[in-house]
Amino acid sequence: MDLIIGNSSPIRRIKELICQVVDTDLNVLICGESGVGKELVALSLHNLSKRNKHQIVKVNCAALPGELLESELFGYEKGAFTGAVKSKPGKFEMANQGTMFLDEIGDMPLPLQAKLLQVLQDGAFARVGGLEEINVNAWVIAATNHDLEQDVQKGIFREDLFYRLNIIKIVVPPLRERKEDIPLLIEHLLNKHQSVSKGRHITISDRLKKIFSEYYWPGNVRELENYVRRIMVLGDSDALEEEILKRMDVSTRECSTSEIWAPDESLLNSVLENCKQEAQGKFPSLKEIKKKSVARIERIVIEEALRRTKGNRKQAAQLLQISYKALLYKIKDFKVKMPQKNPEEVLELKLPENTSFI
Ligand SMILES: Nc1ncnc2c1ncn2[C@@H]1O[C@H](COP(=O)(O)OP(=O)(O)OP(=O)(O)O)[C@@H](O)[C@H]1O
Ligand SMILES: [Mg+2]
Repeated sequence: MDLIIGNSSPIRRIKELICQVVDTDLNVLICGESGVGKELVALSLHNLSKRNKHQIVKVNCAALPGELLESELFGYEKGAFTGAVKSKPGKFEMANQGTMFLDEIGDMPLPLQAKLLQVLQDGAFARVGGLEEINVNAWVIAATNHDLEQDVQKGIFREDLFYRLNIIKIVVPPLRERKEDIPLLIEHLLNKHQSVSKGRHITISDRLKKIFSEYYWPGNVRELENYVRRIMVLGDSDALEEEILKRMDVSTRECSTSEIWAPDESLLNSVLENCKQEAQGKFPSLKEIKKKSVARIERIVIEEALRRTKGNRKQAAQLLQISYKALLYKIKDFKVKMPQKNPEEVLELKLPENTSFI
């Protein structure tokens, strides 16, 4: 548990969940953006479980093409394919009594998902080119930065496998949503990488810490770790400060406070007109008009934010000061149109005069 640094409420909740789940053998699905610490959660789960006397075996499902991934996971028998000069056990066999960590599960090809489902159901499988049934008892923990529910809807992830894996879901939030953890993480990372500073005492200036607390952290804790290591080796805090400020400036330049667009009266009036028309002449109830107006205005503002960020949803979420996930839901719910990739359109700050609301 000491592996996971942080005292923010989401991190405390994750630590609690880990304690509750350990030794239940229920499949765990760890979700979160890249670099948030999903692998660390998987390691903590294994280390705290009774299975810690055995191995935690990791397979990165995005790193290998389908057939290679199959033989990596399930092993193969001699002669199964050209080059299979002797039999080889797969990672599932190695994880017997221990933990199987399936990283980037969202990238597993569909045919292999079927075989994995079978292992999860029966605890048994056959090596590639083999007939003998091999039984395994491994705790299966999977991780992904995909929205698997959306992948299921798109037909690229099996629904039955999703429900099998998703018995316990641990969502690791992005660093931007738990910035209070940054000082503790910095301290931890300075200690962790002590050896690279060759005995010099390195500190991070208050100025840089302040910049860190305002930054958007698209690469999450991994990005923070890379900056800390860089400072420890190069001692170039000033250059780093400038780089990060520049990056922050690019994503917020088109949205300085004076430029923030807000709906004016004529726009609100036309929303009202629209609602009236929809209510077929009757005057709509205040509740109804409030709901519809807010949804329509949100859609317009989201489309505007997406235009300004050239369709980059992470940056748009930052502009709108909502979480990335909330933005994805809103895009879906309000049927938001993604901008066309036309740079001139992106720079256009005003809304078109004849904006339609439907
Ligand atoms: N809460 C934390 N405390 C200490 N170190 C952390 C924490 N979160 C992440 N790290 C460190 O940040 C780096 C990235 O973490 P990790 O590899 O677990 O992320 P991930 O979510 O699996 O990323 P990816 O999706 O890119 O594989 C690692 O070096 C890890 O040790
Ligand atoms: Mg990982």
